[in-house]
Amino acid sequence: MKKFSFTLLLAFTLLVAVAQEKIAIIPEPVSLIAGSGTFTLPQQVTIGIPEKADLGYTTGLLKQKLSRTGSTVQEQKGSRSATINLVLNKSPNARIGDEGYTLSVTPDKIVIAANKPAGLFYGAQTFLQLLPPEIESMEPVNGVVWKVPVAEITDYPRVGWRGLMLDVSRHFFTVDEVKKYIDNMSRFKYNIFHFHLTDDEGWRLQIKSLPKLTEVGAWRINRTGLFNTFSPAEPDEKKSYGGYYTHEDIKELVQYAKERFINILPEIDVPGHSLAAIASYPELSCTEGADQYQVRYGQPIMDWSHGAPPIALIDNTLCPANEKVYGFMDKVITEVAQLFPFPYIHVGGDEAPHNFWEKSSQVQALMKKENLKTMPQVQAYFEKRLEKIVNSKGKKLMGWDEILEGGISPTAALMSWRGEKYGIEASQSKHYVVMSPTQYAYIDYMQGDVSTEVPIYATLRLSKAYEFNPVPQGANAEYVLGGQANLWTENVYNMRQAEYMTWPRGLAIAESVWSPANKKNWNNFVSKTEQFFKRFDEAEIKYSPAIYDPVVSVAKKGTDYYVTLTPEIEGLDIYTSFDNSAPDRFYPKYKAPLLIPKDAQLLRVITYRGKKEIGRQMSIKVEDLKKRVK
Ligand code: ACM
Repeated sequence: MKKFSFTLLLAFTLLVAVAQEKIAIIPEPVSLIAGSGTFTLPQQVTIGIPEKADLGYTTGLLKQKLSRTGSTVQEQKGSRSATINLVLNKSPNARIGDEGYTLSVTPDKIVIAANKPAGLFYGAQTFLQLLPPEIESMEPVNGVVWKVPVAEITDYPRVGWRGLMLDVSRHFFTVDEVKKYIDNMSRFKYNIFHFHLTDDEGWRLQIKSLPKLTEVGAWRINRTGLFNTFSPAEPDEKKSYGGYYTHEDIKELVQYAKERFINILPEIDVPGHSLAAIASYPELSCTEGADQYQVRYGQPIMDWSHGAPPIALIDNTLCPANEKVYGFMDKVITEVAQLFPFPYIHVGGDEAPHNFWEKSSQVQALMKKENLKTMPQVQAYFEKRLEKIVNSKGKKLMGWDEILEGGISPTAALMSWRGEKYGIEASQSKHYVVMSPTQYAYIDYMQGDVSTEVPIYATLRLSKAYEFNPVPQGANAEYVLGGQANLWTENVYNMRQAEYMTWPRGLAIAESVWSPANKKNWNNFVSKTEQFFKRFDEAEIKYSPAIYDPVVSVAKKGTDYYVTLTPEIEGLDIYTSFDNSAPDRFYPKYKAPLLIPKDAQLLRVITYRGKKEIGRQMSIKVEDLKKRVK
């Protein structure tokens, strides 16, 4: 009996130890062999760095984070006997490539080895994830034992392009906010920051040879609420909302990103989405009256009821038949090429309405002269001329998948957003592509029920984002550069909300573009994500807890309506009420579709894990539920 309870105690102790040390790394590494025992951070930490190498921000990152533990942290050049050793391999390890690393945790030291500095940075990020969540604290922390489980990790990315796009046109974000966004990306081994700099709602990049772009185009009327619903402008309404990045700002951001091994892809979105440019230089339009146009503030300007391309209510396109437009683009691209070292410039090309071009005598004349038969061919003519400009500055052109329509030059690269098919098709015809399909990677969509979210026209749950495959079946993998998620910000008014929209879906996309497909596992990912919620709390990064809220669907049978509540993750209990009061775990537990009672007005829903309230109180009007019947 005594022996039995001793064995039980031992097993329990081991279980607790295992539970405490459950390794959670996002993105999941290629290979992780957990050992036994732990490394404990000593009072005096030394970081051994190579004698001669620019490690970017890696050493600074380790110093900054580890100094919060109360230990003193010092660098040692050329040392291999430091507490944490950053080693550049003398003979390259072919398995890990330019971005991979190996990380060895033994009870007495840490060794991170890589072929290139980028790998050391990613190895350092992984090492930080192995430390307790308090390592992310904004202040020094007491009372934590800074343990790391013994492990051997070998890791390298699945694809080379691991991007996040931030739209800074619809809402402007300061240099410091953009830096924080980039810094957060770098935790999860993203390496491309796609900077959507221009759109109908604001031109955000200083172009010294075209000063009106930022004197006029960077400023708009300020309205708050839901974009696309705003009422007409008052004649005296001030254009006080906006901002732009100077050349100095851009240099600072490029350098900041580079230190974190992130390249910035600039986007100048033309020929559509160009109202801010036209408000600044109306002569770029084919349409009479463009001199009255103003930067859009969120009022409706497109009719989407007929599908794509939309019918423009005002002409937000640059005129493809106007030579001035090409002179303008030459000036813009000249400065963009000087500011951004990345080899690609993204020139948009999406959603350009053609209805004003159809009516334009200039465009008719161009079609005749160039033997163009259709509007997509007119746009293709524009894109090809634009590519010549881009190439003449030593850069390569990338555009949204609409640039495929009407013919594309063999050297143009494509970003596939309207699903995967355009990317698959383009890769098969040997165009480089980046996959960013709406159904997996549009993080401007709602991530939970509309009753808890800013109402957007579509939903992308975490579980769906986690299904993202940057190299879909049928694609020519050799031509798939990688994948990315896009955050459009029409209804993202501040950086806290940008964070909320990005995390945790940004974790799902990070794992999809970094980790081998066979290493992805939804249940494991959910468990890791929950551990990262603690890290986000420590780091004061906002995230969405929508995984705890069920998916709500409604069906009609005869005259009855039934509500189905489907949890997104396992192990949750859902409680409901129709009596207007807020349910807790003593209310009826959801087991099967609920018949909406006669005369009920409100469904309330709450989720628990055991005795802990974990979801958000959801309140949905019965009249709204009934409208959800498909
Ligand atoms: C896009 O979402 N219009 C590229």
